[in-house]
Amino acid sequence: MEGQPPFPGFNEACHPINLGALNVILVTSANGHIGKEVVNVLRSRGMKARAFVRKVEREQEDQSGVLEYFKGDFFDRESLRRAFVGVDRVMHISPPHIPGEFAIGQTMIELSREHHVRHFALLSAIHPFIDALPAHRMKLLVQQCLIDSGLPFTILQPTVLMQNTSLAQVLKTGILSVPYSIDRHMSFVDRRDVAEAAAIVLSDDKHFRATYELVGTEPITARELADLVSQESGRSIEAKQISPDAIIDRPIFSKRDFRVSEDDNNRARPSRDDASNESS
Ligand SMILES: NC(=O)c1ccc[n+]([C@@H]2O[C@H](COP(=O)([O-])OP(=O)(O)OC[C@H]3O[C@@H](n4cnc5c(N)ncnc54)[C@H](OP(=O)(O)O)[C@@H]3O)[C@@H](O)[C@H]2O)c1
Repeated sequence: MEGQPPFPGFNEACHPINLGALNVILVTSANGHIGKEVVNVLRSRGMKARAFVRKVEREQEDQSGVLEYFKGDFFDRESLRRAFVGVDRVMHISPPHIPGEFAIGQTMIELSREHHVRHFALLSAIHPFIDALPAHRMKLLVQQCLIDSGLPFTILQPTVLMQNTSLAQVLKTGILSVPYSIDRHMSFVDRRDVAEAAAIVLSDDKHFRATYELVGTEPITARELADLVSQESGRSIEAKQISPDAIIDRPIFSKRDFRVSEDDNNRARPSRDDASNESS
């Protein structure tokens, strides 16, 4: 009917494409480095996606008929709830270094169960069990919560993105800086490969209950990488360790912010009786 929203919960602020009521993949943090790539790959494959973003830029309006931008905020539960209308699959990407990562993950899982989502893909990180990295601990807890939820899931664990390091900046400054020891071996992955992997797992039920580490290169230290760039460019490049605080645009949260109470731990595990659609 003219003047009526195309579906209940339609957000007027997003691009007014009606994707239809079925087969929509909700992608969170869709304006981020990884989310943007995921949305691009889904669109190029003709898979219907709803990009959950805090801001919709004019240039993001999409005419493809398979993508829409939905304006919302993780801390506005009502906007999240509305974003689930018509969704049958979820690609959940948390913002990095956010104190509420666990609570956001729980909410996404709860809403997915309420909406009978048939596949929940979670973007985690490689080796989430490393306690020294508080942000990784949050990802581990969200993984546990997802596994216990009974939802059909796939967990993606990318290593460090290659795009975190700007070659142009390295060549300009002569410094290759990393927030860890320059003698630590690390593998890298291209974020476009992460997005391809996301699209592949979301296309096929055979990835249910699988966890994939996503790695694109052989392990290499920052010192070796700096030497390699020196050889290839003919410039002198030095590897340098910097504080993690220097790579994010706000101070890294203290461990206290990430500490998880016993209550949170218990909440992270919905009882198995509640899990209505446990797969295999
Ligand atoms: N980078 C890596 O090397 C790497 C490796 C493995 C795993 N990961 C994980 O991948 C995830 C995504 O990383 P990324 O580098 O793509 O992040 P990113 O570029 O910083 O993007 C984060 C996005 O989250 C959105 N966001 C922040 N707060 C929000 C809120 N309250 N409500 C809704 N949206 C909100 C931001 O929206 P705005 O654009 O509006 O600010 C932004 O687009 C993180 O969990 C990270 O730990 C990253």
